[in-house]
Amino acid sequence: MNAISIIAKKRDKKELSQDEIDYFIKEYTKGNITDYQAAALVMAIYINGMTNKEITNLTISMANSGDTIDLSDVSDNIVDKHSTGGVGDKITLILMPIIASLGVPVAKMSGRGLGFTGGTSDKLESIPGYNVNISIEEFKNNVQEIGISLITSSLNLAPADKKIYALRDTIGCTANIPLIASSIMSKKIASGANKILIDITCGNGAFMKDIKQAKELANMMIKIGILAHREVRCVITNMNEPTGHAIGNTLEVIEAIKALKGDMPEDIKEIIIALGTQMLFMAGKASDAVKATQMIEEAIQSGAAYNKFKELVAKQGGDITYLDDTEKFPKAKHIIPVYAEERGALKTIDTEKIGNISVYLGAGRIRKEDSIDHTAGIVMNQRIGNVVEVGQVLAYIHTNDESKIEGATRNLKEAFVLDPKKVAKPKTVIGLIK
Ligand code: URA
Repeated sequence: MNAISIIAKKRDKKELSQDEIDYFIKEYTKGNITDYQAAALVMAIYINGMTNKEITNLTISMANSGDTIDLSDVSDNIVDKHSTGGVGDKITLILMPIIASLGVPVAKMSGRGLGFTGGTSDKLESIPGYNVNISIEEFKNNVQEIGISLITSSLNLAPADKKIYALRDTIGCTANIPLIASSIMSKKIASGANKILIDITCGNGAFMKDIKQAKELANMMIKIGILAHREVRCVITNMNEPTGHAIGNTLEVIEAIKALKGDMPEDIKEIIIALGTQMLFMAGKASDAVKATQMIEEAIQSGAAYNKFKELVAKQGGDITYLDDTEKFPKAKHIIPVYAEERGALKTIDTEKIGNISVYLGAGRIRKEDSIDHTAGIVMNQRIGNVVEVGQVLAYIHTNDESKIEGATRNLKEAFVLDPKKVAKPKTVIGLIK
């Protein structure tokens, strides 16, 4: 068996055996198979697809490519949450402290930004001192002591996914159902969760562009879950516009802190209730939706969720004075309003374009090794369905680089399409699949 014969087999649309997948993943992780050979196989998978058996084998091989965490001494019911990514998606920062404050242990590893989408680890690092790179022992201790830990996936968990994920980003192979399903599920299996809730974002700012694709991805992950003895539920949410108002790391952290203090945009609230309800069901903490909603609302109103977030930040070295007074967070040097030049109802927002402008402003990385500007980003001032008058602000650009203002303004204007007719507000939560 060798890499070339495996690539050729997938190129010729044949099914790879478990041994072939295991061999390729093991040798690529060790560095014995080159990036260009892995890129060729990934591209062949992207074009020719995989059978369910191949996808499950790929998931298990990637999950076993490094360490795996056993969290059974923390709880026999670890419920994890993962999003397929989007623009302005700060749901983890808000939802996880809520859930932890309700007695459900939260042990979560998050990624960094990928393409036009942001990453929770980058956002957490906007809080001065917050350490996302703690050891497995500290991670488990924190979950045992305060019921929550949020870290980055820098531990040696599913290293094959880490390599393939970064590779996919550079060869135009991010939006692909077998690759996304195996990427997410391998990480979740390696990190010790036995119940997994996936937020499948759907729309022009997500990898899944339509509901058919989102459902296909959901069913795929549920099937992998059954074969790997994990309960998987998927909530499909709208990503035809950014989540909430803020896009960019510090800006999103501030929005998340305000949400935990009770000041929550309506779309975020709907997503929090939908995902939180499923997590409480899976954890056995609630059995009806009305009760679950009450529990979530009470966790916010009582301050329990915010206090849990503060406890988390303090435990991982972050400066909690920034949470109590968000004015302390550094701001970008230039905050530039972008105005509407015509009147109309906001019909569409090119969300991927907005994500890319935010990356251009410095909020994300173009190359893996790039550093990011935590203060950079965009704050949206309008949502789909709003009637916008000439001269009203569509969004604000936050940047430290004056030379980027003109291009970002021009591109941002193009991302908003107005219509003379009335436009209905879209649904935020599209469906549940389990
Ligand atoms: N999130 C992941 O972890 N992997 C993907 O491939 C896409 C989103």
